[in-house]
Amino acid sequence: MYRIRTFNQISQTGLSRFSNDEYMVGPDVDRPDAFMLRSQKLHEEPVAGNLLAVARAGAGVNNIPIDDYTHKGIVVFNTPGANANAVKELVVAALMLGSRSILDGMNRVQELTDIAEPEVMAKLLEKEKKQFAGDEVFGKTLGVIGLGAIGSLVANMALELGMKVAGFDPALSVEAAWRLSSQVRKADTLSALFTRCDYISLHLPVLDSTRGLINSELLGAVRPGTCLLNFARQEIVDEAAVLQSLEDGKLRKYIADFPSPALIGRSDVILMPHIGASTDEAEDNCAIMAADQLRDFLENGNIRNAVNSTSV
Ligand SMILES: NC(=O)c1ccc[n+]([C@@H]2O[C@H](COP(=O)([O-])OP(=O)(O)OC[C@H]3O[C@@H](n4cnc5c(N)ncnc54)[C@H](O)[C@@H]3O)[C@@H](O)[C@H]2O)c1
Repeated sequence: MYRIRTFNQISQTGLSRFSNDEYMVGPDVDRPDAFMLRSQKLHEEPVAGNLLAVARAGAGVNNIPIDDYTHKGIVVFNTPGANANAVKELVVAALMLGSRSILDGMNRVQELTDIAEPEVMAKLLEKEKKQFAGDEVFGKTLGVIGLGAIGSLVANMALELGMKVAGFDPALSVEAAWRLSSQVRKADTLSALFTRCDYISLHLPVLDSTRGLINSELLGAVRPGTCLLNFARQEIVDEAAVLQSLEDGKLRKYIADFPSPALIGRSDVILMPHIGASTDEAEDNCAIMAADQLRDFLENGNIRNAVNSTSV
């Protein structure tokens, strides 16, 4: 029997990949061959000598002491791309919120609680609705920065909406390049991309080299009226520079999955509470991928998507 100790609430669909005949799985399993977890911090967790692998149902692994585990020969798996579709779908919503006055219009309707007559309400809204007119994304240009699992889906989706798409990714993988439509135009530099887009969507990781990457210099190059979408990470964007650009009338809107006090309460900022990957399907996909990778490793010795070992 293989023994898997679980942490956190892992999707049942993923756990069902372990057959009862061959696997003992649960939070109280002792002497585990492997851990399976979501966000549990493992830095203080005792590790027995027989632990062979850890699988994180998710992409980030900063809750796992990778160096220590590597030293002990424990393989650490993650599930890159398993939540990409969930993020892509939220970016579609953000594009729509950025092009039309959907939120303002809906909020206005909700204010009309003191009108009892349907005809009065209809007449008032008919008069007011021109304030909530917007633009279509069709024919506009979207710049996608980072063309990995999420960025490539976003780029292809935008083409299907009739947008033109420019992409920038200095380390595009061959696999991602295969996924990407040939209609995506390559921008040679970030500033070249910033000068030619109506919408810019960020899909790159936080690294020392990308922290604060979207700064006042780049934002100085945007076309007036550009809408910036950040569904990557808060730290990639210099928020003070974004606010200044909004004040200067260069950026028209900032739409992000990362609220912060400085951004709240502005009509030109739309914030979501980090819900990019929050779908049942993404949770299932991550758990299925993590479970399948663990099984393939324990049963066959194969390694796929390990962060501390090459694939074999
Ligand atoms: N909002 C959310 O809930 C949510 C959910 C999942 C992921 N994310 C974020 O989205 C990011 C992208 O996820 P992914 O699964 O597509 O990752 P990925 O690793 O598949 O793709 C990232 C891409 O960014 C590129 N890149 C690296 N540095 C760059 C730079 N300086 N300029 C342009 N491109 C650069 C890489 O070459 C790679 O192709 C993640 O790092 C994560 O921070 C957010």
